Amino acid sequence: MASHKLLCIFLFVLHFYSGHSELQLNYYSESCPNAEEIVKQTVITLYKEHGNTAVSWLRTLFHDCMVKSCDASILLESINGIQSEKISKRNMGMRNFKYINTIKDALESSCPMTVSCADLVALAARDGIVMLGGPHIEMKTGRKDSKESHLAIIDAMLPNHNDSMLYVLDRFQSVGIDVEGTVALLGAHSVGRVHCINLVDRLYPTADPTLDPNFAEYLKRRCPHPDPNPLAVEYSRSDLQTPMILDNMYYKNIKNNKGLLIVDQQLVSNPITSPYVDKMAADNDYFHDQFAKALLTLSENNPISEEEGEVRKDCRFVNHN
Ligand code: HEM
Repeated sequence: MASHKLLCIFLFVLHFYSGHSELQLNYYSESCPNAEEIVKQTVITLYKEHGNTAVSWLRTLFHDCMVKSCDASILLESINGIQSEKISKRNMGMRNFKYINTIKDALESSCPMTVSCADLVALAARDGIVMLGGPHIEMKTGRKDSKESHLAIIDAMLPNHNDSMLYVLDRFQSVGIDVEGTVALLGAHSVGRVHCINLVDRLYPTADPTLDPNFAEYLKRRCPHPDPNPLAVEYSRSDLQTPMILDNMYYKNIKNNKGLLIVDQQLVSNPITSPYVDKMAADNDYFHDQFAKALLTLSENNPISEEEGEVRKDCRFVNHN
């Protein structure tokens, strides 16, 4: 009994000093009751003007949350001793950051200095997913924004396109996402594009035999240079059939050897992940359910405390105090 009491005190103290904050549903219900609606309406407006913004919000959430915490560190620009995470090779191809400011401006004009950029990233991803025909995800809020960039640890946190499946599973496991959740989250590659620089190793000098030969020919036409200029806008869409819909076509494609990245193809060839690929290819609702569950876990990774973080006025810069 006494040891149970001691354990409780220990856990309480650990929680207190670990500096993590609790997220909650409708965190802004008093301070900014329209916050979620403002994000949603702006995401819809942006989507109508530039459909690929919705795709971007999804990748931005992954690249923010996987690296230490969902704390909007990815949005910081290089200035005043900060080195932006945007310059990392892992973040190559990320786009539409300027429209984050559009969403933030809408929030600031109704509720100055109230809604964090980290919550904006999470909510925009949630609303973007709906625009892409994905599931609606009930999300908590209350995240705080970091005052620093995590550029130095990105390579250790974010898997690369050609990492082994075991390594990838381990990285996701470290943020509480199991094998089924990892397979579901990679279904995000049902939308968007991949630049040739991430593909050419599978095409030259000879095409990867795990690629469907006709598809390899198609990709070679999209990526005619074995050594593409990283700045060139040469890419292929991830899913040629339904490129703007977050559906299970991704799993059907990879089963047909039409996965773009090595990591995509490995989902099918690895016996640990392949049973889930089969299930997701067969059932879109099951994919959506697992995707929603895993995305929620990702979006709640390691929120920082009020003391450690802040609510940035401009998502690109830490506040001047
Ligand atoms: C092992 C894990 C993953 C790896 C190695 C990976 C890698 C990549 C790479 C290399 C690209 C292409 C970038 C380019 O050439 O422009 C990409 C695109 C994308 N990824 Fe991932 N990814 C992973 C997991 C995820 C997850 C979990 C999500 C979201 C839940 C996600 C969302 C996206 C989206 C939406 C795009 C398209 C972006 C656009 O068109 O602007 N990825 N990913």
